[in-house]
Amino acid sequence: MRVLVTYGSSRGGTEGLAQAVADGLRACGLDVDVLPPSRVRDISGYGAVVVGGALYVFRWHRAARWFVRRHAAALRQRPTYFFSSGPLDDSAASTDIPPAAGVRSLMERTGARSHVTFGGRLSPDARGIPASAMAKKLSGDWRDPARARNWARQIARELTGEPAAAAPASRDEARS
Ligand SMILES: Cc1cc2nc3c(=O)[nH]c(=O)nc-3n(C[C@H](O)[C@H](O)[C@H](O)COP(=O)(O)O)c2cc1C
Repeated sequence: MRVLVTYGSSRGGTEGLAQAVADGLRACGLDVDVLPPSRVRDISGYGAVVVGGALYVFRWHRAARWFVRRHAAALRQRPTYFFSSGPLDDSAASTDIPPAAGVRSLMERTGARSHVTFGGRLSPDARGIPASAMAKKLSGDWRDPARARNWARQIARELTGEPAAAAPASRDEARS
């Protein structure tokens, strides 16, 4: 199956997470294209789609919103998964952060199967207002590529119908 991973990203952090998601899907044998929304014309060749969006002032990056609105009807017809990237602290690692209101309504519109929030990144030399002011207090990288790859493996199992890897046998079972 071919899977599209697309993303809305201003400063590259979310694009990096999209690449980690793609790595996890490929590790499970899926064919994956990672493309920004502007380079996707038609999604009919994809069996499933993952859309990621950077969070800016409680909203998804506009390229992610644009992609979902434009392809909403086609997304409804195939398994679709969303991720957000944003928090500039460790909150995304310790809690399950729900989608922002606008992202939730896009999930309803497309029937997206799941959503996860990953930590974000803001470099100390970020340009633009108010990013440069924010970066003075909040710069850092809270992304967790391993978590993104794991999330992708769960998706791949769902898409391929593969059961989760069996838990290792207990010592007693292993001896007998
Ligand atoms: C102006 C500004 C507003 C932001 N607003 C939010 C927000 O509402 N929620 C959040 O979790 N993160 C917020 N962030 C953090 C970004 O989502 C984070 O830096 C993200 O990794 C950026 O992704 P990108 O590098 O792909 O553009 C904001 C960052 C900036 C600079």
